[in-house]
Amino acid sequence: MALLIKNGEIVTADARYRADIWCEGETITRIGSDLAVPSGTEVIDASGKFVFPGFIDPHVHIYLPFMGTHAKDTYDTASRAALVGGTTTLIEMVCPSRADDPLEAYELWKSRAAGRSACDYAFHMGVTRFDDTTPEKLRRIVDDGTASFKIFLAYKGAFGIDDSELYRSLELAARWGVIVTAHCENAEVIAQMQRRLREEGKTGPEWHEPSRPPAVEAEGVHHLATFAELTGAAAYVVHTSCADALAAARRARRHGVRLWVETVIPYLVLDRAYAERPDFEGAKYVMSPPLRERRHQQALWNALATGQIDTVATDHAPFDFQQQKEMGRGDFAKIPNGIPSVEDRVHLLYTHGVATGRIDLHRFVDVAATKAARLFGLFPRKGTIQPGADADLVVFDPNYRGVISARTQQMNVDYSAFENWPIEGRADVVAVRGRVQVRDGQFTGAANHGRMLRREPTHRK
Ligand code: URP
Ligand code: ZN
Ligand code: ZN
Repeated sequence: MALLIKNGEIVTADARYRADIWCEGETITRIGSDLAVPSGTEVIDASGKFVFPGFIDPHVHIYLPFMGTHAKDTYDTASRAALVGGTTTLIEMVCPSRADDPLEAYELWKSRAAGRSACDYAFHMGVTRFDDTTPEKLRRIVDDGTASFKIFLAYKGAFGIDDSELYRSLELAARWGVIVTAHCENAEVIAQMQRRLREEGKTGPEWHEPSRPPAVEAEGVHHLATFAELTGAAAYVVHTSCADALAAARRARRHGVRLWVETVIPYLVLDRAYAERPDFEGAKYVMSPPLRERRHQQALWNALATGQIDTVATDHAPFDFQQQKEMGRGDFAKIPNGIPSVEDRVHLLYTHGVATGRIDLHRFVDVAATKAARLFGLFPRKGTIQPGADADLVVFDPNYRGVISARTQQMNVDYSAFENWPIEGRADVVAVRGRVQVRDGQFTGAANHGRMLRREPTHRK
């Protein structure tokens, strides 16, 4: 089947021009003007619209046993949600508990996705324990095409690793050229601060942020950067929420550490006041690191515009308000952490970033697609529009106006953190490897079209 997207304005991380895109099978084969249309070609008219490369969300949780419950989405619901939001590739965190065997966990996570995803996907392998058997198991996982790790400095007793495990994980990753993504918050300090707040009777969701203030995150980034420097590993700080953590990352980069920085859409558009909403509604907005005071948003937008932040992901982790967030009524430390947003990332970033003039179109494409493709071994197959690349394309209508609502969302969760928020612009048509999966903003495609993307390590020194 051939697909022609005509009359659109192509925008990539470094180019903007009018041309038609011709796709044969799964691949873009020609870009030019007035391309001939053989019979049987599906033609999409993109007049007045942008054509972006399919967006990549490099940090999502779909299958996630966490804090005594499981995240709500399946691959079916999460991948549909991703697609109607313009995201054609997800990178999911494999998060075994410390007691789990890494190979068994990896196969379990893969089995949750196989044949059930409407968009393409890959994994970051969580290293939640490191012993003498770990290198051989991780070798098999990397050889299977999962060329990035995930470590947690937080979540003591669950996913968190200690300093000897951190050193050994980074040392191994450096040797293999595997990039290590890291949740940077000091677990010990959090445990002490949670205890102190509880003793003072401070138990509501509004105390989540004070239990892990910016200094806790900045220390985590500095800690990771120090270990990355000493081992020579390539490291990637996930979900950066505040100016203090950014400053720690900036210092490390100036010092020559190979460090990249991700933020996630909730931090760019929400602030701490949401987690302070009365009647436990603040629980909808509990994630870690926490939503910060408003001033940090400005620091994040500036860092995004100037290249100090490399990617905007979601950290999508959906837990129902009614049943699951409720588990933490009476103790904020038991509220399942996460704000669902895989469906909303691209639309919110366009509305609050591009439409307001905070970032330009090229930066938008770079942080939401291209840089993740480069960092995680997917470029140029993904993340750009050029002959030979996968035909992952988003026809985006900048004139669309609508609102976000839980009533209409694809994500399998009972609330939206952005209920009734207006959006400017929308992914109208979305193709994954040449197959149109979304039309008029609605999922119309094949539920099992998605494939696992296998990647090579790309970070050898
Ligand atoms: O609150 C969060 N971030 N939930 C998901 C788990 C994680 O830390 O990434
Ligand atoms: Zn995290
Ligand atoms: Zn996460």
